[in-house]
Amino acid sequence: MFCYSEGLLAAFSTVLLVTLALSRSAALSCLLTGGLYLVLRLFSLEPASPQRAQLIVQPRDSPARIAHRGGSHDAPENTLAAIRQAAENGATGVELDLEFTADGVPILMHDETVDRTTDGSGSLRDLTFAEVRKFNPAAKHRLWRDYRGEKIPTLREAVLESMHYDLIIYFDVKGHADKAVAALKHLYLEYPRLYNTSIVCSFMPDVVYKMRQADRNVVTALTHRPWSFSHWGDGRPRFSSFWKHYLSLALDIIVDWSMHNFLWHFCGVSAFLVQKNFISQEYVRQWSAKGIQVVAWTVNTIAEKMYYENILQASYITDSLIEDCDPHY
Ligand SMILES: *[C@@H]1O[C@H](CO)[C@@H](O)[C@H](O)[C@H]1NC(C)=O
Repeated sequence: MFCYSEGLLAAFSTVLLVTLALSRSAALSCLLTGGLYLVLRLFSLEPASPQRAQLIVQPRDSPARIAHRGGSHDAPENTLAAIRQAAENGATGVELDLEFTADGVPILMHDETVDRTTDGSGSLRDLTFAEVRKFNPAAKHRLWRDYRGEKIPTLREAVLESMHYDLIIYFDVKGHADKAVAALKHLYLEYPRLYNTSIVCSFMPDVVYKMRQADRNVVTALTHRPWSFSHWGDGRPRFSSFWKHYLSLALDIIVDWSMHNFLWHFCGVSAFLVQKNFISQEYVRQWSAKGIQVVAWTVNTIAEKMYYENILQASYITDSLIEDCDPHY
């Protein structure tokens, strides 16, 4: 399968014409364009089997409800209690964030510091697992009284808990590509069931690429929020400096173009996780024509859930399985 987009064709033509105009050498232009094509062709990874991707993204052939960080509104995020609660509330699966302690133990944590969610303080780069384990991951949650004695779980504990409740798992990997890939690869070997019940997702193409290089059977997804380099999730610009703002805008345009035109194919992903506001019926249809499933995040009101589930027939990630809650970006 080699079905790149018209956008890429246009890019190849542009490279050809620009090189031709600058060098006046037809041979050089063709060589450069052909070389680019060859690189993409040779190093692109085949996607995992569509049947398996379907099993994970739309189990029972219908849109799935995935609890964001285990359902961060209903229970303390990224805890075993959240996973249990998500199962109880009828989630199809959970999205969990992978991080590492200073001594290299894979754990569930969204931030690089423990301050926002726990009663501890500091960066994961400086804290060992033994230290992190003493913190209370429910400390800052609105329902902390209902969740006493909770510990920050290891990746393995979280996976076992999720498998126990037959939940699909979205592993969200923010960085540490090599460490994360090694930890996940190990888990897939140990629990082959995960090949059919989990997906590895990242904003970073290198994480996804390395994961699929390490194990071609792992189903993966790219995560994307257009304009994320230049704007916060709520639409405010990130930078007040004129130059920084326009440079980040340019970067956003390049990244967005790359994501939609070749990175998905290059990394061999099966799904595309997009911020919900950028999804329309036409958008879902375009991806679907490439064999890619769209998953929306983060869908937090009942009206929106009905729209994504019934009209777009897209799986979605939500902070709550039981009630409307504030938006999350
Ligand atoms: C995954 O699912 C397929 C189809 O249902 C099945 O044939 C296969 O054995 C499963 N693989 C694992 C590792 O569970």
